[in-house]
Amino acid sequence: NDYDLLVVGSANADLVIGVERRPAPGETVLGSDLAVHPGGKGANQAVAAARLGARTALLARVGDDAHGRLLLDSQRAAGVDTGGVRVGGAPTGVALITVDPSGDNSIVVSPGANARLTPEDIRDAAGLFARARVVSAQLEIPLETVTEAVRARAAGSRFVLNPSPPRPLPAEVLAACDPLVLNEHEARFVLGDGGGDGGDGKDPEGRARALLALGARSVVVTLGAEGALVAEGGTAVRVPSPRVGAVDTTGAGDAFTAALAWRLGLGEDLATAAAFAVRVGAAAVTKEGAQASFPTAGEVAAL
Ligand code: RIB
Ligand code: NA
Repeated sequence: NDYDLLVVGSANADLVIGVERRPAPGETVLGSDLAVHPGGKGANQAVAAARLGARTALLARVGDDAHGRLLLDSQRAAGVDTGGVRVGGAPTGVALITVDPSGDNSIVVSPGANARLTPEDIRDAAGLFARARVVSAQLEIPLETVTEAVRARAAGSRFVLNPSPPRPLPAEVLAACDPLVLNEHEARFVLGDGGGDGGDGKDPEGRARALLALGARSVVVTLGAEGALVAEGGTAVRVPSPRVGAVDTTGAGDAFTAALAWRLGLGEDLATAAAFAVRVGAAAVTKEGAQASFPTAGEVAAL
């Protein structure tokens, strides 16, 4: 394989404002100076993997505009192969992000060019799929494009999905997920009303069991500062996270998923790969921004 990881997904310009608290409907609040960062769940995953040392390619679509160039530059600087990044058709996706003093974020995404990444774009990139050990996707691109990516995989290549923003998934996609990587909020949406405890109570084991019953090959439920729960077959194991001071959690989940996907492709088991990935995610929350906060392998080891 030429690529440890092929990421199929979104690329957004992140427009970030720090706030003391978020405005209520009809209210105006003042925030920090505006920061513009390269982001998007797909672009973030690709940069995170490449920074750790994975041979990585990105299949995405950006606009023919300044935001698109910002994204291409950040991918290239990280060493990601951008031959699969299509340009044009709509403005580059934008994420409007507020970050509060606890480091938590709220995000509104305008998909723009991400919504124009089509199943045909996937078929045109057959050469990339043929050379990738692991394919990873998220849901800021059309679901039919993700479905086509499942079909385009080479025999024996692994599929990892972070269903964010969440929605119910077709059986064909679920059956390919090894693992499905999601937080509890996303799990509720993927399960509709019938999953886990069926309510708002925390029950990651129950949700993981329900997602396995729905057809996922394996499941990783991310638990924020608590780490992650990994589940496959009849077993579920909790993987704790190192304690860190949170500055900005934006993109930490993307870094976690990319690290997990990479290590699984190298042959690690789910719990071992997740133990590495929680350290990558923890490092990412200690710095501002998404891609700028992603660690090298050396920084993970030093954590
Ligand atoms: O997961 C974090 C990302 O979500 C941000 O970079 C933003 O672009 C949104 O896609
Ligand atoms: Na961060």
